[in-house]
Amino acid sequence: MYNYQKSYRYFAQVADDIKDIAIPELEALGAKNTHSAYRGIYFTADKEALYKINFNTRLINRVLAPIKSFSCHSDQYLYKTALKIKWDDFLKTTDTFAVFATVSHSTIKHSKFAALRLKDAIADSFRENVGSRPSVDTREPDVWVNLHIENDEAIISIDTSGGSLHRRGYRRRSVQAPMVETLAAAIINYSDWDEITPLHDPFCGSGTLLCEAYLKASKMPASFLRKKFGFEQLPDFDPTLWEKVKNESLAKVKKHPVDIISGSDISLQAVKAATYNCSLIDPDGLITLKRRDIFKTENLENKTIICNPPYGIRINNEDDLGGFFKDLGDFLKQRCKGSNAFIYFGERKYIKNIGLKASWKKELSNGGLDGRLVKYELY
Ligand SMILES: C[S@@+](CC[C@H](N)C(=O)[O-])C[C@H]1O[C@@H](n2cnc3c(N)ncnc32)[C@H](O)[C@@H]1O
Repeated sequence: MYNYQKSYRYFAQVADDIKDIAIPELEALGAKNTHSAYRGIYFTADKEALYKINFNTRLINRVLAPIKSFSCHSDQYLYKTALKIKWDDFLKTTDTFAVFATVSHSTIKHSKFAALRLKDAIADSFRENVGSRPSVDTREPDVWVNLHIENDEAIISIDTSGGSLHRRGYRRRSVQAPMVETLAAAIINYSDWDEITPLHDPFCGSGTLLCEAYLKASKMPASFLRKKFGFEQLPDFDPTLWEKVKNESLAKVKKHPVDIISGSDISLQAVKAATYNCSLIDPDGLITLKRRDIFKTENLENKTIICNPPYGIRINNEDDLGGFFKDLGDFLKQRCKGSNAFIYFGERKYIKNIGLKASWKKELSNGGLDGRLVKYELY
């Protein structure tokens, strides 16, 4: 029996600063005994909940199922221990696989080297037991193997998501500085949008915030476009149960989702990208998109405004972002009466330029950038 089969315990990888909303999300999807840890959440779940979490979560990056844990003081011991695992329980010779490793405070110093030793063990175990071996594909493998070594304690896990769940499948066209989908989903959560008030993103770029708002309002499982999940490779995978979970989740999708989500952007290329991306989740075209310079647009009154304006580090345009944010503050103050605005600052130094009193500020990092989500109530 593998570890996860004995303990029903899994590890959900998630950004530290959104764990306060990720834990209730996990619990609502059936996780039990949630326990916060560095960059993740431990939880227990039955098979049904595991499938449901993977299909529906909007905030978790991936869920790992531990198969073996052991003290590991050398790469040779790692190799020997991994060689004893019955890898053909998880993949066939015709499947592809990849190993991803993280290493800290351990005798084995380099994560790439640790991954290589585990990869060798998997390949050699196949050669010895089956006669031929599966190949490695680091981009789209069938099986994602995870190795974590900390203080010389190693855990080998299977990624039950099969690659990060932020890749929803709708962002086929991109723009500069797109926002990661899980962060966009978190921002929609923090906004407490009531799904009735019209929601507008005046800097929509590729449309990530709009897509995440739409997925939430229509109760669409976040990964409904995903073709395959890692849990399908587990030896105890139950296809009938998976079909049931899928059907039950899809049955909750609202037939007539709200047509109150809209976005605009100054760039024609961005509007085209957003239109294409949105069409993949919203074939009826309920999300409205326009090319607009925010400063030349109609007033945005009585709305929920959610956006991430341009920022220097990623957009490579430090020209006069201070002046830009001052103009944005004036726009919000003068032309957005009755609205609540949730502005995501990629760089918090610009918050002062906006010149408005914030209701609250929340630390939210984005790809290593020290960002802030700030709420403004506009009267
Ligand atoms: C950081 S990006 C937004 C990324 C978006 N959230 C996504 O996930 O793709 C900022 C966007 O603001 C747009 N923009 C810059 N100045 C603008 C203006 N004056 N009016 C409207 N959009 C503007 C840019 O074209 C860019 O697409």
